[in-house]
Amino acid sequence: MSPNPTVKIKYHSLAPIGDSSMKKKKKVLFLIVILVVFIWILGIFSRSSESDLELGEDSLRAMLIQTQEELRISRQQMLHYEQMLTSSCVDQINAYHGNDQVPTIYVITPTYARPVQKAELTRLSHTFMLVPKLHWIIVEDATNKTELVANLLKESNINHTHLHALTPDQYKLKKKDGHWKKPRGVQQRNAALDWLRLFRSSDNDKGIVYFADDDNSYSLKLFSEMRRVKRVGVWPVGLVGGLKVEKSLVNAQGKVIGFNSMWAPQRPFPIDMAGFAINLDLINRNENVKFSFDVDRGYQESAILSKVVTSLSQLEPLADNCTKVYVWHTRTIDPTFAYEAVLKKKHMAPSDLGMEV
Ligand SMILES: *[C@@H]1O[C@H](CO)[C@@H](O)[C@H](O)[C@H]1NC(C)=O
Ligand SMILES: *[C@@H]1O[C@H](CO)[C@@H](O)[C@H](O)[C@H]1NC(C)=O
Ligand SMILES: *[C@@H]1O[C@H](CO)[C@@H](O)[C@H](O)[C@H]1NC(C)=O
Repeated sequence: MSPNPTVKIKYHSLAPIGDSSMKKKKKVLFLIVILVVFIWILGIFSRSSESDLELGEDSLRAMLIQTQEELRISRQQMLHYEQMLTSSCVDQINAYHGNDQVPTIYVITPTYARPVQKAELTRLSHTFMLVPKLHWIIVEDATNKTELVANLLKESNINHTHLHALTPDQYKLKKKDGHWKKPRGVQQRNAALDWLRLFRSSDNDKGIVYFADDDNSYSLKLFSEMRRVKRVGVWPVGLVGGLKVEKSLVNAQGKVIGFNSMWAPQRPFPIDMAGFAINLDLINRNENVKFSFDVDRGYQESAILSKVVTSLSQLEPLADNCTKVYVWHTRTIDPTFAYEAVLKKKHMAPSDLGMEV
């Protein structure tokens, strides 16, 4: 039988350990004695400065109280956020879906291909994803629907209708034209209104129609407000018409009596497109409710509103009697790509080769 190698190793390694472990034990004992003496001395010192210790305890207690207070505030904030979230999303979604009495919000968005398009539509879709019972009608100014928009809609999981309607050549904006020169979105908004008349009936479908351009910024509160529209609802719009806010003027009886607009105030309804919504019923019952290429700059809103209301008092002032701003007429600067030209000059690939930006 060959000797067990493990045992052998153990034997060899045990001998020296036996010696040094005795030394180590002595060392440890010595250290313990030193430590005990040290603690004892420390005890004497701390007893001699009991007032100091008390001070330490006091500040500790104060810190604890402060931490407790901070925790309490955080907890309150958490509860507050939770409440906000439940009331604005979950409850609404639960209450709204399958409830025929809650109108669907039909948001009509004209859009066209440009470098910032995906960024704008992404931002917009992320707002709309949080709004229950919303149907997004997105209309591309193009000869065909694009993959970019189709994919974005698919990923968003928002109920939607994807259309395209090309602006006739004579109305197309030239590069040098100011963005106001010719009416924009006419063909596209009308295509969406036609779709509504075809596929939604006044009898079965309750709805509110809102024209939401793809570059504005929208608060979720706006959608809660507009869901209450009976006929035509109006609310303030921020950052538009050369003012910080354009709004309807509301009297003590809660009726609209005018507007604060400074730009072309003679318009029958000097309101921005983002500042009103119309009940679907009015659109369905009147073929003439549509936009036109034959109206002057800034008159599109007046053209359509004058077909659905005959007097200012029919306008329903929302957003706390037009005292709150829930939508902003934000503009994205057109980016320039100076270095793409440099890449081209150097016969290098464009930065977005094979990518959707
Ligand atoms: C438009 O898109 C459809 C579906 O993607 C395609 O079948 C059709 O050929 C396209 N038409 C044009 C003119 O590009
Ligand atoms: C889309 O609409 C259908 C029917 O109107 C509804 O059942 C569904 O919940 C909606 N989906 C979303 C994500 O809103
Ligand atoms: C709007 O004003 C009317 C009349 O003053 C008032 O009765 C109503 O409560 C106000 N609504 C809101 C939401 O403040």
